[in-house]
Amino acid sequence: MFFKNTVLYVFFLGLPLVISCGHATKQRVHAELKQEFSTMAVPVQGTIPSWLKGSLIRNGPVTVSVDGKHNEHWFDGLAMLHAFTIQEGNVFYANRFLRTQAYDTVFNKKSLSYAGFAVDPCRSIFKRFFSLFLSSGPHALNNANVNVAKIADRYVALTETPLPVEFDPVTLETVGVLDYKDSLPHRDTWESAHPHCNPVTGDALSYLIEFGHQSYYCLYTIPANTLERKVIARIPVDRPSYMHSFAITEQYVILVEFPFVVNPLSLMLTSKAFIKNFSWQPERGTCFTIVKHSTGEIVGTYRSKKAFFAFHHINAYETDEGICCDMVCYDDASIIYDASDDMWEEQANRTIFHKEVKRFIINQDKRTLAEKTILRGDFEFPRINEKYDGKPYRYVYMTKPDKLWHAHEIRPLYKLDMEKGTTITWSQEGCQPGEPIFVADPMGQKEDDGVILTIVINIADHSSFLLILDAKTFTEQARATVQHQIPAGLHGQFFKLC
Ligand SMILES: [Fe+2]
Repeated sequence: MFFKNTVLYVFFLGLPLVISCGHATKQRVHAELKQEFSTMAVPVQGTIPSWLKGSLIRNGPVTVSVDGKHNEHWFDGLAMLHAFTIQEGNVFYANRFLRTQAYDTVFNKKSLSYAGFAVDPCRSIFKRFFSLFLSSGPHALNNANVNVAKIADRYVALTETPLPVEFDPVTLETVGVLDYKDSLPHRDTWESAHPHCNPVTGDALSYLIEFGHQSYYCLYTIPANTLERKVIARIPVDRPSYMHSFAITEQYVILVEFPFVVNPLSLMLTSKAFIKNFSWQPERGTCFTIVKHSTGEIVGTYRSKKAFFAFHHINAYETDEGICCDMVCYDDASIIYDASDDMWEEQANRTIFHKEVKRFIINQDKRTLAEKTILRGDFEFPRINEKYDGKPYRYVYMTKPDKLWHAHEIRPLYKLDMEKGTTITWSQEGCQPGEPIFVADPMGQKEDDGVILTIVINIADHSSFLLILDAKTFTEQARATVQHQIPAGLHGQFFKLC
């Protein structure tokens, strides 16, 4: 936890866990939400565009407590889905926990003893790390609390371990494990919770890490309407990097290996939880690997001497200058420690993280890697118009995470013009917006013809609302308010439901 003057803050990427002011009693602001709401109508202020029909479904870890103790690390909270469904200008809300092994452990066994990202109370030196991820067999329901996606026409929740968990997009009820019909590993791997669509074929495209005496980054695609992952490339790696996301262009996959790496053997031989086995090794620099996704050919590797870390790629695309790859960059990986209560590293006590929106330009003819800073500031959860994924684009939508949390904070949503490096913002005092999700106007012609949807927490009155902004001007179109605080979450998608 962070002690700063007389104020205690625990915060990460917009999540307040505990806040205590001066001599006042510690107050848990909103991190816990055990109540589930069945679909209910929500009052709307303003006018929702008539073309906007579908459901914003957002995932995220909810901190839970048992006998006065709560999750040590935010990423280990229980997966909860929230849905704001828009029909004919009306809005309906529902939320539901995924029914997972972790859920069963907390609510039925009254325990926090389930394995996760940064904690594993059951682990010992005699247990292989592989047993951590799925403690009860290959079809166990994972605590998939990071993202949602549509794969093979199924709606699934994703985290960074296999397998996806299918849910009903209307009721949010858990359907079961989405099991692939292929020969790739179904467990014991590390996955990306940020799959892409191949810009040419439209097929899902992602990667996993196979750990072993020889480890591999395995890029794969899932052809439409199948549950078969087809390998694009298996790239040997001695010290796998923690890579939360990756980028694609029309021809290439770009893997950026940050020097936050793990010795696979240590995963098997130590008693630490998964992420605590990783170490920051800046002397390794940062390595960009370019893979042609139609053939699996590695067409180049480029190493930046400068070490940095990123959770999120923004976009990448090809130009005459080379391949442009944009990210929200940190000086190092200590932001991961910041999400924990126990500060297992000294550097976790940092309260300021230096972030930049950066563009890296890889010129394959000259064999060069250049970089430039587009914007400095406090940003995260970058989203774009998904039609431009892998293609030249101009606009990024982001939010501002902050450790400090009180009713008078201003935390804007940003629209960044990547060409000019300028921003426009939306904000309301005491309100914390979540990830901004762009939905295109079906009649629109320009990149920013559409709306931004985000779930905003209103600290002042302990409520939350779906905010709908005009993406071009960032003016408010409408909001739909629920009378409870929705815990800060991670990622969501807008689905056009039939
Ligand atoms: Fe993410």
